[in-house]
This record gives sequence, structure tokens and C-alpha cells, in this order.
Amino acid sequence: MRKTGTSERPDWPLAVVIGAGGMGMAVARRLSQRHRILIADIDGVRVGTAASKLRSEGGDATPIECDVTSPAAVAALANRVKKLGGFHALAHVAGLSPSASDFTTIVRVNLTGPALVAEALLPLASTGAAAILIASLAAHGFTPSKEVEAALAEPTHPKLPARLAAVIGADQATPQRAYQLSKYGLVAYSRRAARTWAERGARIVSISPGLIATPMGAVEFEHSPRKHQMLARTPLQREGTMLEIADAVEFLASDRASFISGIDLLVDGGLAAVLFDQPAV
Ligand SMILES: NC(=O)c1ccc[n+]([C@@H]2O[C@H](COP(=O)([O-])OP(=O)(O)OC[C@H]3O[C@@H](n4cnc5c(N)ncnc54)[C@H](O)[C@@H]3O)[C@@H](O)[C@H]2O)c1
Repeated sequence: MRKTGTSERPDWPLAVVIGAGGMGMAVARRLSQRHRILIADIDGVRVGTAASKLRSEGGDATPIECDVTSPAAVAALANRVKKLGGFHALAHVAGLSPSASDFTTIVRVNLTGPALVAEALLPLASTGAAAILIASLAAHGFTPSKEVEAALAEPTHPKLPARLAAVIGADQATPQRAYQLSKYGLVAYSRRAARTWAERGARIVSISPGLIATPMGAVEFEHSPRKHQMLARTPLQREGTMLEIADAVEFLASDRASFISGIDLLVDGGLAAVLFDQPAV
């Protein structure tokens, strides 16, 4: 019996999108043009609505509630991906901004989470698959101490936040610092993991967005005068859009990027170039 009224595309490869917030949805919407989508978020209601929205637009999307910091929830995610026949693209977009939480939670969501997801899904990557981890411009322009590097090199260690706090000092363990270090750790993670992913014929990269117009970005603007200064110094003189991040993810997930692995792609309107290479004028 043929089914009607469904957008199911079992013939398409699977893309796993983690995060159903502003940027996650933009990425899922774009990848849904050529992939089945499994979209995951800690917020079950949000991810359910996100999948319905994608289906109403003609996409083939399934939601799954998943807290990326929970090894059990990530194992259940991997199990679902296995049942769906493995994956061809993984976009880990979920993350917490500095004003969203505390030091420990930010480190766990922004670094431990994506590392747990990448490790659990790697055995399910098809040949030519790609993982794209969303980091941040905040990961750039500084060099952590050897001790911090050593702690970040074990991103799934259950005591990672405490280890980092012990190294940098409890008074330095602020949400801002958690954001910076977790995103630095994520960029380093994708660089390190390139070799293991290549053993499966797969690739892993990170993207570092600069100032992007998202609801999360708008909240950060409210809390940080520094953001306004950064916007003023952005050579392209505007925020980026979520569509521009989706453009980069789409390219990096595609076969057109088949020789690109272990890199970080800054999508920041030129801001890193002036912040880190040229003094303020
Ligand atoms: N907006 C910007 O200017 C900007 C700049 C640089 C980097 N980024 C990065 O882009 C990413 C996405 O930003 P956004 O604006 O879409 O954020 P958002 O707040 O709209 O969405 C983040 C999503 O992550 C989910 N989430 C939080 N904790 C989770 C967990 N433990 N497990 C699973 N899901 C969880 C939230 O429920 C939410 O749906 C983040 O990683 C952020 O750090 C954003």
C-alpha cells in the first residue's frame, strides 16, 4: 500500500542536527533539502515543534530528546542513528552562551557534550561522512597554559569542569571563561579527531561563528557592551546571519569539501583578522 501525505525520503542520507535553537533550525532546514534529519535537543517540546515545522515544509525530520551531557542519553541517540542506518552528516550546534548558565554547565554542554556525541556516532559514520562542530570566535586569539590544554585534551572526563577550575583558579572560573575555554577545547578536539575520523573515510571540522544575529546573540548584546565594540570593529560592519552559518555547514558537509578535515573555519566577517592581528585604531 503506497503512503500519501508524507515527506519521508528513505532514499536520502541521514543528517543528525544537535540543537533546535535559532542556528540549529537554520542548519536543519538547509540540510533537510538533501538529507533525512534527526534533530536532537534537551528541550523535548522545542525539538518536537522543530521537527513538525521541518515536516510541514516538506522535510523528512524526526525529533529526539537528548541531553548531550548525559552518556546514557547520547547512547540512546546513537542507538536511534544505528536503527536509521548510520549517518552522513553531523552538525553539533547546541551550546550555551556565557549569560545562559554557570561555569560547570557551560563546560559540560559546550565541550563534553559534543565530544560524547562525536565519539558515540563515529562508528556509525558512512564513508564520506562529515561532522561539523559549532565553536566560536571566542576560541581564538589566546593561548592557554599547558595545564589547561592537558585538561581540555580529555573533554569527556566527568571531572573536566573541576579540573579546569583547579588549574585556572576558582576566582577565574566564570561563565565567560567557561565559554572561551570550552570553545577552544572544541576546536582542538576536531583537530585531534581528524585522524580517527579519517580511518573511517570520514571528516571532522569546526566552525567558529563571529557575531551572528540569533535570539541567543541578541541576549548576549544586552549583557555585553564589548559586543557593540566588536560589531563596530567587524570589517563587514554587520552581524552575520544564520543562513550564512547554514551555507558554511552545507558546504563542509558536502562532497565539495571532501579533502577538508581537522580545520576550523572562521565565519566572522573578518573580525578575527582585525582583533588578533591589528591593534585598535
Ligand atoms: N549567536 C551567536 O552570535 C554565536 C556566535 C558564536 C557561536 N555561537 C554558537 O552557536 C551555537 C548555537 O547558537 P544558537 O543561537 O542557535 O543558540 P540557542 O540558544 O538558540 O540554541 C541552543 C540550543 O541548545 C539546546 N541545548 C542546551 N543545552 C543542551 C544540552 N545539554 N543538550 C542538548 N541540547 C541542549 C537548547 O535547548 C537550545 O535549543 C552555540 O553553540 C553558540 O555557542 C553563536
